[in-house]
Amino acid sequence: MNILGIETSCDETAAAVVRDGRTVLSNVVLSQIPWHRPYGGVVPEIASRRHVETLAEVTAEAVNRAGLRWSDLDAVAVTYGPGLAPALAVGVSFAKGLALSLHKPFVPVHHLEAHICSIGLETDDPPIMKEFPFMALVVSGGHTCLVRVEGVGRYVLVGTTLDDAAGEAFDKGANLLGLGYPGGPAIERAARDGRPDFVSFPRGRPPRGRRADLIPMDRSLCFSFSGVKTALLYYLMRHPISRERAEVPSLAASYQEAIVDTLVARCRTALKRGPPRLVVVGGVARNRRLRERLAALAREDDVSIRLAGPAYCADNAAMVAAAAGLGGGHRTPDPLSVDVDPNASLGAA
Ligand code: KG4
Ligand code: ZN
Repeated sequence: MNILGIETSCDETAAAVVRDGRTVLSNVVLSQIPWHRPYGGVVPEIASRRHVETLAEVTAEAVNRAGLRWSDLDAVAVTYGPGLAPALAVGVSFAKGLALSLHKPFVPVHHLEAHICSIGLETDDPPIMKEFPFMALVVSGGHTCLVRVEGVGRYVLVGTTLDDAAGEAFDKGANLLGLGYPGGPAIERAARDGRPDFVSFPRGRPPRGRRADLIPMDRSLCFSFSGVKTALLYYLMRHPISRERAEVPSLAASYQEAIVDTLVARCRTALKRGPPRLVVVGGVARNRRLRERLAALAREDDVSIRLAGPAYCADNAAMVAAAAGLGGGHRTPDPLSVDVDPNASLGAA
């Protein structure tokens, strides 16, 4: 089964061909970062315009690099949500048109299901997507949540962030520190020369009781990252950065440590509750410090923790094709009727 995946939910224009949900034949990702950098974040209008301008070429490149003809494709899969509505619309309409013209099945895929399925790409380990249940930490710019994976298409959200996502916290922190966009890699780079114990930033613990009606989940598996960002802001107000330039690496290291600590603590709790097997996916899973700390947790607590390959952590289309190849995607008898859904919940996948 050769599946073409397409991903345009945010600021990457991506297309990929994956065989049998696992073997990547091609993976083309065109980042729009230079277009959004002047604004310090993603501008939805610019994102959708760039998708319109580049998606056809990126897709043709993916099919070419896979060494296939269009007729060799068995299905066309695309992210239908969550994400930026105008950006999603470009990928979904393009993929529908392509599937119809090729007379191939159309598979709408939930973005978080795609991230979860990235764990099985190009790995020699036994295919984890066949050993259920396991826990998944999805940690990216738009999402930070813990999901109990009971099977492909069977996901139970057990914890989520009550405010910012971890990647968003990295991006906002980098902005405050003048490190530029995107913030995660910038903070990681700056932190290399800094001391993680320079400032003790709060390890976001969601307060009890607040928003209990909206978030009916176990608080000990939920996240909060707005406090760490505010703490950094107040620190910088008290110690104006222009005079404290030498502190930036240590501030970055301390800030990174607070985010990583919070993520690792929730993972430890989730693993204690079981199942004692965790996969970690999404853009922030590229972070070296997080990868080191999770490896240490796996050793100390004798649990299994697997991280997505660095090439498949940030948004890409191979994960979308993988989800479709493993039997995922929106469960509906009429996939072509599925429209973009900027707030799609994982339960609908
Ligand atoms: O998965 P992704 O590409 O897009 C979303 O679905 O949101 O994740 C992007 C996020 C950004 O917030 C970026 O700052 C963060 O992932 N990120 C990192 C690193 N690389 C990307 N955060 C921390 N350390 C990194 N090395
Ligand atoms: Zn993503």
